[in-house]
Amino acid sequence: MMEEIEKLKPELLSAIEKADTLTVLDEIRVSALGKNGRITALMKTLGSLAPEERKTAGQVLNVFKTEIATALDAKKEALETEALNAKLAEESVDVTLSCRPETAVGRIHPIAQVIEETLTIFAQMGFDLAEGPDIEDDWHNFEALNIPPAHPARQMQATFFFPGGSLLRTQTSGVQIRTMEKKQPPIKIVCPGRTYRRDYDATHTPMFHQIEGLVIDEKTNLANLKTVLVEFFKLFFETDDVQVRFRPSYFPFTEPSYEMDLGGAMARNIGKEWLELLGCGMVDPRVLKNCGIDPDKYQGFAFGIGLDRLAMMKYGIKDLRPMFEADMKWIKHYGFLPLDEPTVTSGLSMNGGRK
Ligand code: DAH
Repeated sequence: MMEEIEKLKPELLSAIEKADTLTVLDEIRVSALGKNGRITALMKTLGSLAPEERKTAGQVLNVFKTEIATALDAKKEALETEALNAKLAEESVDVTLSCRPETAVGRIHPIAQVIEETLTIFAQMGFDLAEGPDIEDDWHNFEALNIPPAHPARQMQATFFFPGGSLLRTQTSGVQIRTMEKKQPPIKIVCPGRTYRRDYDATHTPMFHQIEGLVIDEKTNLANLKTVLVEFFKLFFETDDVQVRFRPSYFPFTEPSYEMDLGGAMARNIGKEWLELLGCGMVDPRVLKNCGIDPDKYQGFAFGIGLDRLAMMKYGIKDLRPMFEADMKWIKHYGFLPLDEPTVTSGLSMNGGRK
């Protein structure tokens, strides 16, 4: 028995030591301690020994059995830890790795960019943001703006009508009315937005964008209008070389009315002396009256600028139509990465008023 143990012990311990998988280790455990295992077999022989001998052999065998069982447990734990570590190493995420190159980064549309830049500038000049609906009624789009039903000025703007009389607004000027109906002067607002007319060529699309400006107070005058516009264009085109020219024109809601041309660096850039840019004038007293504002006490100016035109000029875009065709190649070329956004934000936003 003793000899047997002396022989078995180094054999088993070295096999346990060498076992490199849990399966191999388990085979060793079965071969030693299992039902037909070698230590179990030795235990079975105890019964045939003389009582004295059985006692000592029994003790030695128990110690041996415990030693092997302990060695098996220790090795099992070591192998399990090893396996866990290997798994962790394999599955761990290296958070210091740089991210995968992004292939589809969204771009900011030049119109959205121009609206943001424009609002930023007007916000710095103290203008508030006003908004109105794209689907307008006849009163706000025409009548209150001094364009009664049979007025020839209606033909200046080919209108999309809905059955029932509402329409897609042809101009943002209706927001002047909505603002003045709600609030007495002082008023100083801008309103950017979509406008619609039945037009389609390189410089006209059925949907386009305007920004409307309105300033009403007791002494607001044409010189103020000129200052606001000159300052705006200096900041927008980032040049001090800005000249403006006011040509007498006609709009039913302003008197006197003007179209403003821009000269200087921007016009020269595209080989012109003057660029026709916007309509403006002093708000017609009748329009003030239509909104419940006393024309003997208050006066003011208004202007309407085509935003698509501004985007085309600032960013060298020649044809207006692709702007609204959702062409990925076009937006990749003319769009802005979010990082190109102006760092100063206006505090005004198109959806939902002040940010
Ligand atoms: N609403 C005019 C248009 O769409 C532009 C315009 C002209 C707006 C004069 C104004 C203005 O506010 O005073 O053609």
